[in-house]
Amino acid sequence: MKRTMDQDIEEILYSEEELRRRVHALGAQISRDYEGVDNVILVSILRGSYIFMADLSRSITIPCRMDFMAVSSYGQGTSSTGQVEIKKDLSDSIKDAHVIIVEDILDSGNTLDYLTKVLRARNPASIRICTLLDKPERRTKPIAADYYGFLVPDAFVVGYGLDYQEKYRNLPYIGILKPEIYTQAD
Ligand code: IMP
Ligand code: MG
Repeated sequence: MKRTMDQDIEEILYSEEELRRRVHALGAQISRDYEGVDNVILVSILRGSYIFMADLSRSITIPCRMDFMAVSSYGQGTSSTGQVEIKKDLSDSIKDAHVIIVEDILDSGNTLDYLTKVLRARNPASIRICTLLDKPERRTKPIAADYYGFLVPDAFVVGYGLDYQEKYRNLPYIGILKPEIYTQAD
């Protein structure tokens, strides 16, 4: 039998159309808030935010630079290990720049707590966080998003950039992964 990614999804949370609309609205809001501001840089946290970054950046109408950083905090399971490692650093300096961190999901807060500290030490003019998804129930660090797309329930979600063991990133929608997929594996 042909195996598809769709059959591992329990429920679709956000369709392609809902994502398109919400991301567009976020881009419009950021464009208004940063109107007239010089030296804005979008910092995409790889790999989870790659699709969000592509769509969000095209919904932002003010001039801005793009840069990318890769971090890992998860290992192979479905919850953060608390250890954040920079796998790829930014290419350019952010000194005196207005940084907008573009992230896929804010969960425990470990990743962004660590990253904001690292980036703040480089003396940017400002730092804000724009996350597509926010799971506030799971937070263990005192960190909040300045912009978020959707508040999500405490379930493991995949698609639109988000993965489970590097799979499902290319699903065009966001859905809840069937728990049997990760309980079998963990
Ligand atoms: P935190 O450090 O616990 O806030 O987790 C942030 C990172 O964990 C995100 O960038 C994601 O890569 C990953 N993550 C957290 N929750 C989920 C989920 O439900 N699905 C996929 N990845 C997740
Ligand atoms: Mg990630």
